[in-house]
Amino acid sequence: MSLPPQLSNPTVHMRDPQRVKEILQSMQKAGSNTIQVISDFDMTLTRFAYNGKRCPTCHNILDNSKLITEECKEKLKDLLNTYYPIEIDCARSIEEKLPLMVEWWTKAHELLVQQKIKKDLLAMVVRESDAMLRDGYQLFFDHLHKHSIPLLIFSAGIGDILEEVIRQAGVFHPNVKVFSNYMDFDETGVLKAFKGELIHIYNKREGALLNTGHFQELRTRPNVLLLGDSLGDLTMADGVQDMENILKIGFLNDKVEERKQSYLNSYDIVLMKDETMDVPNAILLYLT
Ligand code: TMP
Ligand code: MG
Repeated sequence: MSLPPQLSNPTVHMRDPQRVKEILQSMQKAGSNTIQVISDFDMTLTRFAYNGKRCPTCHNILDNSKLITEECKEKLKDLLNTYYPIEIDCARSIEEKLPLMVEWWTKAHELLVQQKIKKDLLAMVVRESDAMLRDGYQLFFDHLHKHSIPLLIFSAGIGDILEEVIRQAGVFHPNVKVFSNYMDFDETGVLKAFKGELIHIYNKREGALLNTGHFQELRTRPNVLLLGDSLGDLTMADGVQDMENILKIGFLNDKVEERKQSYLNSYDIVLMKDETMDVPNAILLYLT
């Protein structure tokens, strides 16, 4: 079968198209029952912008909601304005960014915990938010479900929120598993902390290695499709056992010119300013 024509879309950039072709052919030959998909959530499965306006991350969905006081909103906005430019700054190394990202997540979670957020209001917050999955999300989720391909959503966002986004979109199928930061509620349903080890943008490798059970279950699926939007997402598949092939697809949403080269060096396919799932979907259709 010839390669999907969508690989010639103007948003698609590849360092080594021949290598992409070989990986795809090898994965197709191995068959859909050898494939697993690992995807980031914020700005990978969700849109970066819509009509020129930024779309919210899981954290932003809460930050912008009426569950948060104006004073706290200001503080969360200050954190975003301080740390997001660091997250996407290509002049700084990951080593330099790492402690600053831990600082961002820790401070943001502390602020959220002070807000006494009620569990039973989260569905409403998501419903009233501007959360938006990328165009073509339905085909993506439904196709994976139809072919019983496991989808791991691996997110440094908030698990409770992201689950609600995909539930309300009608695509939280049984083949979907989530690794993320989950909220811990007290007996009256009020947020008291976040559970377990913090997942931030640059420790997904450690998060993957803590979940060996999941990857053990999927050991008959050594062919991986990885989707991300940050260079930190590249380690999401580090727990996969006996990996045979991995195809890494990266959405480059912001600071495109400055970051183009580093994305091309680390992702096999880079989608520049592409708000759709068209290319991942075309690849899935090719593989199944
Ligand atoms: P992801 O792993 O699903 O992409 O989630 C991480 C994103 O969350 C990352 O791009 C930064 C963003 N973020 C916020 O928008 N607000 C916050 O307070 C924090 C801690 C992270
Ligand atoms: Mg992301």
